[in-house]
Amino acid sequence: MVVRIEPSILSADFASFAREIERIPSADLVHCDVMDNHFVPNLTFGLPMVQRLAQVSALPLDVHLMIDDPDRWAPGYAEAGAHTVTFHAEAAQDPVATARAIRRAGARAGIALKPATDAGPYLASLGEFDQVLVMTVEPGFGGQSFRSELMDKVREVRAAIGDRDVWLQVDGGIAADTIGTAAAAGADTFVAGSAVFGADDPDAAVQRLRALAQA
Ligand code: DX5
Ligand code: ZN
Repeated sequence: MVVRIEPSILSADFASFAREIERIPSADLVHCDVMDNHFVPNLTFGLPMVQRLAQVSALPLDVHLMIDDPDRWAPGYAEAGAHTVTFHAEAAQDPVATARAIRRAGARAGIALKPATDAGPYLASLGEFDQVLVMTVEPGFGGQSFRSELMDKVREVRAAIGDRDVWLQVDGGIAADTIGTAAAAGADTFVAGSAVFGADDPDAAVQRLRALAQA
């Protein structure tokens, strides 16, 4: 089974993102949490940071937009060089049009679902997306506890994806004691912030998480 591990730089040293990325060579992508203090009650960084990280990072970037009005802003992150741009269904006026704009700008397009958001309405247009992100915490902050009750949603999305090339991502509380549960439910792409950058050896933590997901 293909397993992708994406450390979230939300838990890294904000003064040294370039160096922090060099500490996780075993990772598949780098997860960049963009927050605007409107869609979520927290503020991180935006387009200039992602543009610069895309220039210096040896790993591809997966941008998780926790912002209002992604229809307007998301394509710019694709133009900046992100590999994947994921926006929230709850914030988008027209998710399909926004996904198409992201793809036209050269990135993979992802749609994210908060814990209270049903996957059902989006499953009919799965072909428009390259990734579905099932949030396993309320978006906004790292270090929260994994919510295992969301595994029903992961299973529902996995069944709808079938053998399509759509990545099924989980984000929030992914650690050594939870990643197996998410993998068993059908996730293949795992975001981990505190479990990676809170470890003494972040790259060893990435390798351990990968092994646990594969088992
Ligand atoms: C939370 C972010 C996550 C966060 C996860 O809203 O979307 O990507 O960094 O952090 P951990 O892995 O610590 O739960
Ligand atoms: Zn995230």
